[in-house]
Amino acid sequence: MEADVLQSMTRPMITHRCKEYKQLHEGIVEKIRKALGTDMDVFLVAGSASVMLEAAIRNGVGRKSLGITNGSFGNRSIEIAELNGKTVEKVQVPWGMAMKPEHIEGKVTGDTEAVHWVSNESSTGVFSDSSAIAGEVRKQNPGALIMVDAVTSAFAMDLKIKDMDPDSLVFGTQKALALPPGLAIMLCSQRLLDKAKKVENRGFYTDLLKIKKQSDVNYALTTPPVSLMYGLDYQLDKALSEGMPARYRRHREMADAVRNWADRKLEGMFPEKGYMSDSIGVVNRGKIDFDSLNARLKERGYEISNGYGDVKEKTFRIGHMGDATPDGVRKLLSAIDEILEE
Ligand SMILES: Cc1ncc(COP(=O)(O)O)c(C=O)c1O
Repeated sequence: MEADVLQSMTRPMITHRCKEYKQLHEGIVEKIRKALGTDMDVFLVAGSASVMLEAAIRNGVGRKSLGITNGSFGNRSIEIAELNGKTVEKVQVPWGMAMKPEHIEGKVTGDTEAVHWVSNESSTGVFSDSSAIAGEVRKQNPGALIMVDAVTSAFAMDLKIKDMDPDSLVFGTQKALALPPGLAIMLCSQRLLDKAKKVENRGFYTDLLKIKKQSDVNYALTTPPVSLMYGLDYQLDKALSEGMPARYRRHREMADAVRNWADRKLEGMFPEKGYMSDSIGVVNRGKIDFDSLNARLKERGYEISNGYGDVKEKTFRIGHMGDATPDGVRKLLSAIDEILEE
């Protein structure tokens, strides 16, 4: 984490029931709306992103949902719904492939209350076109709610939120906002709030109607992580002054550097062409001894990630989001080259 970001979180603590807190909360909500081009409700809840993934299901699904998955986190979203007692129809797309409208043809039925999926699957580095999928959902059942996990895409890639028109879109502070973990963020539609009024057992912490009531007066439902919110406010100012199109271009430039390198030097990228993530490069590992490579990288102050889930042994992952820079990514790739040559 950059020193200026850390510094931004050291402002004196305030209570979360004072005027200054309300200003901080309101400013964050407005900046998120501006950056993402939406006027949806923005809910801020202490916790990791999963708490709001769970809230979407608990408020929007009485009985049945459809879960589309192409990796570990898509499977997780199905698990969340099932563990909350919902019946989930599943569409399994092969790992490494993008989810596309044709995968759900004829699958969204009249009793499908919501369809949920992950926009950027962190286990495979695949970025699916969520607007196209949302369009297909609505063609089949205009009343089905659209619940999108945008944990590793929001603030890294343009989600075209107005086109997608999601009912919930969830992310956290610890990925492309380059902050510590601890605050979950949900964009929430009026349709989801209307549905929540008819769904039982929404819980307390995850009750979107309670959260909305407080959010309308710029309060959090329970104690918010104020220091982290100072950091978020700071990071949002930075994102807005960089400009979101420039931010998305920077992420693409980092992703292109990794893709070109993996094609030239290794066995290429794992995901299907045309659907690669700009925030996480998932590289075919080939014969590389990942653990020793990463240990050597750590000695030089770098760190990359192992593969995840079913492709743990076949791939490794390079995260390039948030405050990372194309220059920093190129230096990392050169360091890997040097280590592999030795
Ligand atoms: C795509 C995706 N969804 C959900 C999660 C879970 O997020 P959290 O740990 O913030 O609850 C992650 C975490 O890496 C993720 O990458």
